[in-house]
Amino acid sequence: MNKIPIILDCDPGCDDALAIIIACRHPAIDLRALTATMGNSTVEKTVKNACQICTLLGVNNIPVAAGMAQPIIRKPYQENYVFGELGLEQFGFKLPVKKAVKPEPRHAVNLISDLLMASKGEISFVATGPLSNLAMAMRLEPQIIPKIKQIVLIGGSYEQGNVTPAAEFNIYCDPEAAHIVFSCGRPIVMIGLAITEKVLATPEIIMATQKINNQTAKIAVSIMEFFAKNNQMISHLKFVPVYDPAAIVYLLKPEIYKVKPMHVEIELKDESEYGRTKCELPVSSSKPANAAVVIDLEFGKFWDEILRILKDYCE
Ligand code: RIB
Ligand code: CA
Repeated sequence: MNKIPIILDCDPGCDDALAIIIACRHPAIDLRALTATMGNSTVEKTVKNACQICTLLGVNNIPVAAGMAQPIIRKPYQENYVFGELGLEQFGFKLPVKKAVKPEPRHAVNLISDLLMASKGEISFVATGPLSNLAMAMRLEPQIIPKIKQIVLIGGSYEQGNVTPAAEFNIYCDPEAAHIVFSCGRPIVMIGLAITEKVLATPEIIMATQKINNQTAKIAVSIMEFFAKNNQMISHLKFVPVYDPAAIVYLLKPEIYKVKPMHVEIELKDESEYGRTKCELPVSSSKPANAAVVIDLEFGKFWDEILRILKDYCE
């Protein structure tokens, strides 16, 4: 099987944790590194959460590194009262102290740059948090850009935002970083709120996951239930959207995603629109398509794949 080499850049975050589980467990994914950024919580917490998930899964052969603690330009924006605390300790999972996964000393930006520069082939970059680490790596070492096969990112919206009416959280946390990434010239797949707010952990999904009687499924259920409880405090949605695994499943089953080539530009000037992903159909050469924006997903097949992975590749 040709494995898919990826770097997963995330801000765990309950839904990021589910994406990490899928990326670690699926045999077709060659996870080269897990890099954490500020976003759902401080980078100290997000890297700790990433390490905790790896420890629980017994995954200790993948470098985990902490990245940007602040956005590149704007003042920090944090919402760690909802997604930030994984609360793994309170789920009663024994975190084996002896084999605890620790972050590696390199900064995530340097790790991303080093891995891409050293790689013979291209690597897919999956981003489920703000784009600060990737943008800084591109600025630090522009030669990494052609080594990036594609950027699959959870973020943006061609409709309403979820932090302001204009902006989605991952973009809003660092719009200037998003501008650098969307201008880099490499293939981008943007999975925005029109899709991710429909990837819902309904009671039926949670029940189906519970039926997969293994430890990893148990962790997934606890995270989804914990996330659902927290999410009720702020969300208009009846069930909790589990945004981030949609980026990993895209790599495995792109055929269930419907995409449209669009010109995506990040609003950086207009204060009320700051962080909007302005998506336009490319009608002129002055605004060529720079992203494949996902406009639909076969949600049933999506969840079938998640449940299949938890059943077939997890213990
Ligand atoms: O807007 C949702 C996104 O922001 C998800 O990736 C969530 O984890 C937060 O990072
Ligand atoms: Ca995230």
